[in-house]
Formats: sequence, C-alpha cells, structure tokens
Amino acid sequence: MTSILVTGGAGFIGSNYVRGLAASRPELTVVNVDALTYSGNLENLAGVLDTPRHRFIRADIADAQALERALAGIEFDQVVHFAAESHVDRSIEDAGAFLRTNVLGTQVLIDLARRRGVKRFVHVSTDEVYGALGATGLFSESTPLAPNSPYAASKAASDLLVRAAIHTHGFPALITRCSNNYGPYQFPEKLIPLMVSNALEGKPLPVYGDGMQVRDWIHVDDHCAGIECVRERGRIGEVYNLGGGNERANIEVVRGILAATGKPESLIKYVADRPGHDRRYAIDASKAKAELGWSPTVGFEEGLRRTLAWYVDNREWWSRIKSGVYRDYYARHYAHRVGEEAS
Ligand code: NAD
Ligand code: TYD
Repeated sequence: MTSILVTGGAGFIGSNYVRGLAASRPELTVVNVDALTYSGNLENLAGVLDTPRHRFIRADIADAQALERALAGIEFDQVVHFAAESHVDRSIEDAGAFLRTNVLGTQVLIDLARRRGVKRFVHVSTDEVYGALGATGLFSESTPLAPNSPYAASKAASDLLVRAAIHTHGFPALITRCSNNYGPYQFPEKLIPLMVSNALEGKPLPVYGDGMQVRDWIHVDDHCAGIECVRERGRIGEVYNLGGGNERANIEVVRGILAATGKPESLIKYVADRPGHDRRYAIDASKAKAELGWSPTVGFEEGLRRTLAWYVDNREWWSRIKSGVYRDYYARHYAHRVGEEAS
C-alpha cells in the first residue's frame, strides 16, 4: 500500500486534496503533517480525521529535529508538499515566516525525504513565481522566474531548492505551478472567500486599486486532480503548470459575488492598492494537458455558484475564523488601506 506524506494538509488546498484521496483512493494511506498556523484548521479535515487511512501529526516542517522525531517509525513512499505561508499581503507586512516555512521548511523536507528514500516528491508551487504579465501572453514552464512579492520570492526560492536537489542528488521531485484557487475551506483573507463572507455579512468589499488586476481562477478540485496526475504520471524532474483558463478582472469577480448574493454594488469600497501589485496572471497548461491528459472541468460561474453555496451552508466555519484570530489582522490591514483610499 502506498503511503503519502502530505504537508500542510489542514490548510485550504491540502485539506481538499486529503479529502479527495480519502474518497477516491482506497489503496492509499496519508500521513498529514501540519503546524496548524492561523490558516491550518482541523475542522477542515472533518470526515477524514481519525480514520484508519489518515493520520494527522502536528509538526513544524522548518524544525528539522522536531520533524524527524514526529515522523520516527512512520513510513511513507511519496511526499506531496503543500505547507507554506500563502498570503501575499501578509508577506508584505512581514516576510520572516515566509522565509522560514517556504524556504527553510522545503529544504528540511527535501533532506528528510532523501534520507527516507522517498520515490516521488511533488512540490506544490504557484504561477506567482513567474511575476506579472501585461495585457497579453501566458506563463509557460519556460517563462523566467521573476517573483514580485516576498511570498512569490519565497516560493521561487523553494522551487530552486527542489530543482537543485534534482540536479545535484537525482532527487525524484516534480514541481506544479498553479494559478489562483477558490473553493470550500479557503481562509477568508483571500479574495473570493473574503468578498463572499463580507457580502453575506453586509460589510464593505475592499477592492485594491482600480480592481482591473486579472487572475486565472481554478476550482480547488481541478487543482487537486492535476496534482494527482502529476504525482502518478508526471516525469520526474519536470515542472507542470496548472491553470483554470478562467481569466477575470477582480472587479468582475466582486460584482458577480454581489449579484449572486443579492447585495448592492454600493458595498464595493475601492481602497489603496497593494504595493507592487501584479497586474495579470494567466497560465498555459498545455504541457499537463498533452502529457498527463489533465484538464480543468469546473467552469468559473458554476464553481463560484458551488463555492458560494458552501459558504452559505458553512457560515459557522468562517464566522468563527473571522471573529477569532483573523480579526486583528483584518482590522490592522484594512484600517491602514482605507486611510489611504484611492479617490
Ligand atoms: P493555506 O495557508 O490555506 O494552508 C497552508 C497550510 O500549511 C496550513 O494548514 C498551515 O498550518 C500549514 N503550515 C504553515 N506553516 C507550516 C509549517 N512551518 N509547518 C507545517 N505546516 C505549516 O494555503 P493554501 O492556499 O492551501 O496553499 C497550499 C499550497 O499551495 C502552498 O504551497 C501555496 O503556495 C500553493 N498554492 C496556492 C494557491 C492558492 O491560490 N491558494 C495557488 C497555487 C499554489
Ligand atoms: P489574493 O486572493 O490575495 O491572491 P493573490 O494575491 O495571490 O493573487 O488576491 C487576489 C486578487 O484580489 C489580487 O489581485 C488582490 C485582490 N484583492 C483585493 O482587491 N482586495 C482584497 O481585499 C484582497 C484580499 C485581494
């Protein structure tokens, strides 16, 4: 039986991935290592926690000794590495945790995986390592890395460490670079869950700058399916871009959410732009499509409808987060932006 070490499996994408494996891959067992930072939440694992094929271990991937101790005597053949600090705005405020988890933590995992003779290591990365696009063009796997935020720079550094391990040690790794995800269990600091939950609460929807920045949205289920294709059939040493092919300007997304929730556009509040804000991301995923037979299946309007329904049905989940640890960050971050509001 194949055993997979998943890191960051209590976060947004990791928990969706783990839940997907539990539902569809009875031949796999999962060891889920997560430090449970502000964005990690055991409630995200409802239904899989404490089942025979899923074992949860709380550990910090950047602490090599603690990780080794936590995993002593536990066997695994493959690694799927999600654990990261993941929010651009927080990296602008303070990059320290990003360097520690995303850079150091990735090297700690590479070293551990090499000692354990792991057969495949999937490093989950982001299209943000490529920087920003103008009005046209797409990121391909050969687009030069040109990260613009501390988050993106820390992810690019982790990609380069994985690349170096492949080149130097013949480390059996693969890298995925995906566009912006949305779906259930996404922490409400990211655009879609923040706007959905604010709309449901009748609060202002803070749009950075002119709202014309473009993201290429992908439903988290499609991302997880892509990671599975890469894990199973990807060529070791390769990078695979994954993207939804759903380019939308932020303001379109926000208006769509207001329309779907029946709330007025007067809730839109233009606020000061994010420093260094990347204008446009868009992915060329033709390599994954041609080599692995992967394609996204969830159209954006349908995916957004399903996501909205999930946030309506799971109000307790996000209300608890928004009234708890997230509250201080929100007050600090948005008070400052509104103070600098764009006219
Ligand atoms: P998330 O913030 O929801 O989850 C991250 C998880 O990692 C949390 O459960 C957290 O507790 C855990 N973690 C953080 N530091 C840790 C540490 N030191 N040790 C162990 N666990 C730690 O993020 P997400 O959106 O689920 O992103 C997961 C991965 O996917 C990240 O690597 C991110 O760069 C990548 N990615 C995300 C997107 C997106 O749109 N969200 C797109 C492309 C790639
Ligand atoms: P985000 O979800 O933080 O993802 P990323 O920065 O990794 O793309 O933001 C998505 C887009 O939404 C990005 O262009 C920034 C913008 N945005 C706002 O306009 N207002 C907000 O309050 C947030 C959180 C994001």
